[in-house]
Amino acid sequence: MKTSIDVILREYDLALLEKNYDRISILVEGSKKLNRICSRINKLTNGSILKATSSKEFEKKSCGDVLTLSFPGGIHAKYLDLVKWSNLCKPNDARKAGVNLAKNSNNSKVLVCCDVQKYSKELITGYLLRRYEFSQYKTIENKGLGSLTLMLKNPKDFEKPLSEIKAIVDGVFLTRNLVNEPANILNTREFSNRLQELSKLGLEVEILEEKKLAKLGMNALLGVGQGSANPSKVVVMSWKGSSKKTKPLALVGKGVVFDTGGISLKPAGGMEDMTMDMGGAAVVAGTMLSLAKRKAKANVIGLVGLVENMPSSTAQRPGDIIKSMKGDTIEVINTDAEGRLVLGDVLWYAQEKYNPTNIIDLATLTGAIIVSLGHENAGVFSNNDEFCNSFLKAASQENEGAWRMPISSVYDKKLKSRLADMKNVGGRDAGAITAAQFIQRFIKKDMPWIHLDIAGVAHTKSESTYAPAGATGWGVMSLNRLVSEKFEHNK
Ligand code: BES
Ligand code: MN
Ligand code: ZN
Repeated sequence: MKTSIDVILREYDLALLEKNYDRISILVEGSKKLNRICSRINKLTNGSILKATSSKEFEKKSCGDVLTLSFPGGIHAKYLDLVKWSNLCKPNDARKAGVNLAKNSNNSKVLVCCDVQKYSKELITGYLLRRYEFSQYKTIENKGLGSLTLMLKNPKDFEKPLSEIKAIVDGVFLTRNLVNEPANILNTREFSNRLQELSKLGLEVEILEEKKLAKLGMNALLGVGQGSANPSKVVVMSWKGSSKKTKPLALVGKGVVFDTGGISLKPAGGMEDMTMDMGGAAVVAGTMLSLAKRKAKANVIGLVGLVENMPSSTAQRPGDIIKSMKGDTIEVINTDAEGRLVLGDVLWYAQEKYNPTNIIDLATLTGAIIVSLGHENAGVFSNNDEFCNSFLKAASQENEGAWRMPISSVYDKKLKSRLADMKNVGGRDAGAITAAQFIQRFIKKDMPWIHLDIAGVAHTKSESTYAPAGATGWGVMSLNRLVSEKFEHNK
């Protein structure tokens, strides 16, 4: 499994500057006064640092931007990355700096000289998050990720922060790896195998097979998977970091390993993107990994519904009426509105079985949320202002776009069915909201609930804030922060 690159910690030592690194990255203040590292390099390179930092080009740059000097004389390194820095810069600027350095780094040996101790954690977080590649299916050009050496005043003091960073980054990487995998490899079986492996980290992992799901009455979920040769599964991951008495937070993810649309088949153009329709389940898995790795003092249950939505002679038809685990009947008008059928049953099971205090679901649920918010923000729907605001705050601190959308019973009439308790689509208008209204029917009264529609942010065609093109891992960091700020007891 792909994890983040190793970070080599070295003591503050000017002699390192003359070793065989390909790139040296340094933080420089816009002023004329250079710190020890900068003046050393300045001397070795015949004054190039001062020349650069007193230039108009450098002046125009803002916190965390990078100016690169190529092939400077006097040192071994081929590139010098000058990060613009000042004491006015913010934590997120340090992340941005890390991202910029990582984007430059290719497969080279990089030395980062970080004497701004305060934000080195953020800088390395940004660096590692961006130093990600999903290349195991490239047999021809596979360049590798290079290496990162970090020069610090007290490397020992950085060991703990570094392990915290790794817990988060490895969670994000698990999410990205799962989302980037094609569906012929990551079918429901392989997905559940990968989740089973998380038990090595101290998570309890339980896999519910079709027979058990049928016994529980999860006909809405099973109906989606019934056209596929790959068996439907629900996987439950439990992290028990707090006392037995503490009721858990539940995270529920949509895990459609491939969404053809079913009998309501999607058009061919772009259908390959539906390998990412398990993005919600992947965020749940990544978050659980992070919580376990950093031994969070919280009780959190992660549940994912793994199914494949295929057209076949056994597939569900438009017009079919099914009975959900909750007992409500659903007329399936469009087999491509499958995510809500999966979530409805898993959400109900999560509440019945685990009696959580709060519940969050994540799903690549609607194209409509992309029309509303593009790829910059996930849609946030909630029945509880306080809970919702704490999530929005966590997301904003992690720089993961999240925007609240309305829910209201005025939209419910769109889901009225002539034959059953509800139908599974509400038409084109307000498509993301009617989907949320559908899901809310499977949330018990007074249960604080957040629904995150991540169709636009789970995977992007061009690079995003922290990731190259493809899977982003959006949400793992925000959920981690939310857990740490709102659900960790006796910290
Ligand atoms: N998985 C899709 C939503 C989606 C679209 C995710 C684009 C990522 C990118 C979902 O199952 C779906 O097909 N939704 C339909 C709902 C409609 C039939 C009511 C949609 O959005 O078109
Ligand atoms: Mn669909
Ligand atoms: Zn889908």
